[in-house]
Amino acid sequence: MHGVVMSGLQSFIRDQEGNDTWREVRNRAGVDRTIYSRMEEYPDEEFLAIYGVLVDDFGMDGPALQREFGRYLFESLADLYERVYFDDDWDALDMIENVEETIHESLRRRDDVTFTPPELATDRIGDHRVVVIYTSDRYLCELAWGMIEGVGDYYGTPLEIDEASCLKDGDETCRLVVTDATEVGSSEDVPETDAASQEV
Ligand code: HEM
Repeated sequence: MHGVVMSGLQSFIRDQEGNDTWREVRNRAGVDRTIYSRMEEYPDEEFLAIYGVLVDDFGMDGPALQREFGRYLFESLADLYERVYFDDDWDALDMIENVEETIHESLRRRDDVTFTPPELATDRIGDHRVVVIYTSDRYLCELAWGMIEGVGDYYGTPLEIDEASCLKDGDETCRLVVTDATEVGSSEDVPETDAASQEV
C-alpha cells in the first residue's frame, strides 16, 4: 500500500485515539517502524494487520472505521495532490468521474513503483448522479465509500451514496450510486432503481 495511505492511517489513529493507542496498535500488529514515507510502498499485510487490531482487539466497527478513514484520507490526498491532478473546473461529481483516468491510472503507469490502486469505473447518469464501480482484491469498498464522502466534504457538496451491489456479498463489483443531494428532485433526476441496475 502507498505510503500516503499508511501515513494517513497512522495520523488518523493518532488524531482520533492518541499516540499511546497508536503505539499499542502498532505493537499488537507486529509493526516495528515508527514512520511511513509518503514516497514508498508497504506490504498490504501491514495495513490489514493494523486494521485487524483496531477491529478485533479495540472493538471498532470495521465498515464505519473504513468510511471515517476514507473521508480523512481524501483530505490528505487532496492536500498533497490537488495542484498536480485536480482541475479547477471540476465539481464533486466531475472529480469522482476523473479519479480513475486522471489519478489512479497515472499512479499505475509510474515505472519506479508498483502501486496498485483499485479499478474505479464510472457511469455518469445525468447531471446529478454518477455510479462508481469498484473492483479490488483488497475488498476495501467502505474505504471507497468514505473517500467519496471526502469528495463531498472537499467541495462542500452533500452527496447521497447508495450501495447497489457489493463484492463482499459475492457480486462481481461494488456499485455505489452517488447523487448530488443539492439537486435531488430536479427534473433531470433518474429514478434510483434505474441508476442501480445500469450495466457498464
Ligand atoms: C472518489 C475518490 C476516490 C476513491 C473512491 C478512491 C478509492 C481508493 C481505494 C478504495 C483505495 C484503497 C486500495 C484498494 O481498494 O485497492 C485507493 C488507493 C489509492 N488511491 Fe484512490 N480513491 C479516490 C481518490 C484518490 C485521489 C484523489 C488520489 C490522489 C490524488 C488517490 C490516490 C490513491 C493512492 C495513492 C492509493 C494507494 C494505491 C496503492 O497503494 O497501491 N485516490 N483509492
